Amino acid sequence: MSTERMKRMSQKISVKVCLGTTCFVMGSSNLQELIETVPAKYGDKVEVSGVPCLGLCSIDWEFSKAPYVKVDDEVIKEATVEKVLISY
Ligand code: FES
Repeated sequence: MSTERMKRMSQKISVKVCLGTTCFVMGSSNLQELIETVPAKYGDKVEVSGVPCLGLCSIDWEFSKAPYVKVDDEVIKEATVEKVLISY
């Protein structure tokens, strides 16, 4: 088992769903399911929250990969529920 995986198992995982304008337009509203269902599924191991603009959309605006989700320090571009769940 990798060190990273072991670390994740012992610490609470932070999932931040960007609800800023660009991410919302690009589909973050579809990620509301994470906010509503993941805490119930994973109990107190995962903390999911909706947050204002993460500032990522202005960095790569020309090739925007919104919506963005941050799982701990990892940025998930063009986030979907499936992509976020795989990253756990
Ligand atoms: S609106 Fe999501 S990163 Fe800016």
